[in-house]
Amino acid sequence: MNSELSFIEHNATNMKKLLILSGMIACIAGILSFQNSRPSVSEKHRGTDSLASERERFTNEILATIKGKESEMAGTVFKNIQTFGTKESIKATHFLAVMNYWGEALGVSCTHCHNSNDWSSDEKKTKNMARGMYGLRQIINKQISFEVENGKEIKPLVNCGTCHRGKTIPEE
Ligand code: HEC
Ligand code: HEC
Repeated sequence: MNSELSFIEHNATNMKKLLILSGMIACIAGILSFQNSRPSVSEKHRGTDSLASERERFTNEILATIKGKESEMAGTVFKNIQTFGTKESIKATHFLAVMNYWGEALGVSCTHCHNSNDWSSDEKKTKNMARGMYGLRQIINKQISFEVENGKEIKPLVNCGTCHRGKTIPEE
């Protein structure tokens, strides 16, 4: 009688082990299939990461060519500065940070606007378009302010990313 009981108990523990094991297998399979069903997220991440690292590589290349002059004004360090020349004068390092931001805001690398063999060239129409867009940004930021109720003034500041949100052509 006793031995029969322990046999049943023994079987029951084996059954439990089997259940736990199959539960674990189902769980792992579930995690794997969940990961497999969402490749788009990680791919998107890889895409933006590689754009960011390419922009960083170009920036470092340029920094190496202007060594010692990083704190001078962009207009004196670079050859073809029209927009950030006189009134909007900024330091070379600040200028390169703006360049990186523009790339980030549009979801592109530097080569969207530049021939990386001649940064001063205006051969890509996107580059001049960006000058115009900067003007648009300044007009909005300087001129738009309006009164809301109880005399409160609202001044909505915009930047490239406000409209573009990581795309070359903003979505409606
Ligand atoms: C959306 C377009 C756009 C992107 C993206 C962009 N640039 Fe520019 N870049 C410009 C414009 C416009 C100018 C000229 C600014 C001016 O006239 O004041 C310029 C000028 C420059 C200059 C000065 C060249 C010279 O000698 O006159 C350098 C260097 C430069 N960019 C580097 C970069 C780097 C590095 C990146 C990426 C991190 C980058 N740019 C991304 C539009 C862009
Ligand atoms: C008020 C919204 C707005 C702001 C702010 C803005 N843009 Fe744009 N941008 C647009 C729209 C809309 C277009 C599409 C124009 C078209 O092709 O009809 C565009 C197009 C462009 C293009 C050409 C796209 C391409 O690749 O063909 C560039 C380059 C660009 N913007 C750069 C910039 C930069 C750099 C800034 C910040 C200095 C900026 N934009 C700020 C609305 C904006």
